[in-house]
Amino acid sequence: MKEQLEKIYTSAKEDLSKAQTISDLDEIRAKYLSRKGEFNEIKKNLKNLSDEDKRIVGSLANEITRNLETSIQAKHDEFYKKELDEKLAKERIDVTLPGKFTPRGKVHPITSTTNEIVASLQSLGFSVVPDALSPEVETEYFNFDMLNVPKDHPARDVQDTFYTLNAKNVVLRSQTSGAQIHVMEEQKPPIRVIAPGRVYRNENINARKYNFFHQIEGLYVDKDITFGDLKGVLNEFIRIYFGASRPTRFRSSFFPFTEPSAEVDVQCIMCEGKGCKTCSGTGWLEILGCGMVDPNVLRGVGIDPDVYTGFAFGMGVERLAMLKYAIDDIRLFFNNDVRFLKQF
Ligand code: DAH
Repeated sequence: MKEQLEKIYTSAKEDLSKAQTISDLDEIRAKYLSRKGEFNEIKKNLKNLSDEDKRIVGSLANEITRNLETSIQAKHDEFYKKELDEKLAKERIDVTLPGKFTPRGKVHPITSTTNEIVASLQSLGFSVVPDALSPEVETEYFNFDMLNVPKDHPARDVQDTFYTLNAKNVVLRSQTSGAQIHVMEEQKPPIRVIAPGRVYRNENINARKYNFFHQIEGLYVDKDITFGDLKGVLNEFIRIYFGASRPTRFRSSFFPFTEPSAEVDVQCIMCEGKGCKTCSGTGWLEILGCGMVDPNVLRGVGIDPDVYTGFAFGMGVERLAMLKYAIDDIRLFFNNDVRFLKQF
């Protein structure tokens, strides 16, 4: 038995001399020193020996396992330090190296144009309505009914408006004009507000049309508001936004929620009025719709049209940005090509 012990010890020492890593040491520990390890197997047989031999072999076995334990621990400390040193060396940070370049983000041109328009209109006395009064998911009630849009108006057609599949009469708003109703249901005149936001239309996408875009709605309701006030405010806005030299014109038009209605055109920046592809040869580009708030709309929200009058307008943010920066394709705004976005 003594020889057997020596033999196992020799083989354990040999294994130990070959060990390279902490996990090698764990294996050696399991093989020799665990409950099922080789030394324990021998200790189990001690009971068959005489008392004298039991003492001798037993103490030898204890001595050997203690020695082995000590040697394994010593190696363990050595490997641990080595592995730690290697890890630290590998993960060392050279604080003198230049940092990683992180490109700085920029405000999207639609956002900056919106901010610019909002600031211009704020300087004319308009305040921005809270988001809660200008939601993108809208009911037909706000998007159409209360704006005097007839039930059979083509704009309500699914070909123009996105309807939700689950809820009846719920749409992705096709215009920001619904914000007018939200505001007038909450507030009594005088009202002088703007509502910027995204709108959705089921369009075939091309250089001038996308299936969502952005509008800024305006509404001014008070006593004695006239079409002259409307022209004054919009002309002043255009002067602030484009500068004095850009020719503009008011053209009569029709919207269900205004009477009379008009549209404002700005001279095409691409061809300077000569006529080109962008302006379909007309030399003009429409930037907004506007008009005097229809008495039906006022009555609907409980405002007496014999006491109060008002004007409203809705402008296209993409159009205004395209006209200012001579951008000839609306899709550029939404492709997220940084070569385009970087220029603003
Ligand atoms: N909502 C209209 C559109 O999307 C634009 C518009 C026209 C808004 C006249 C108005 C308005 O507030 O008075 O085409």
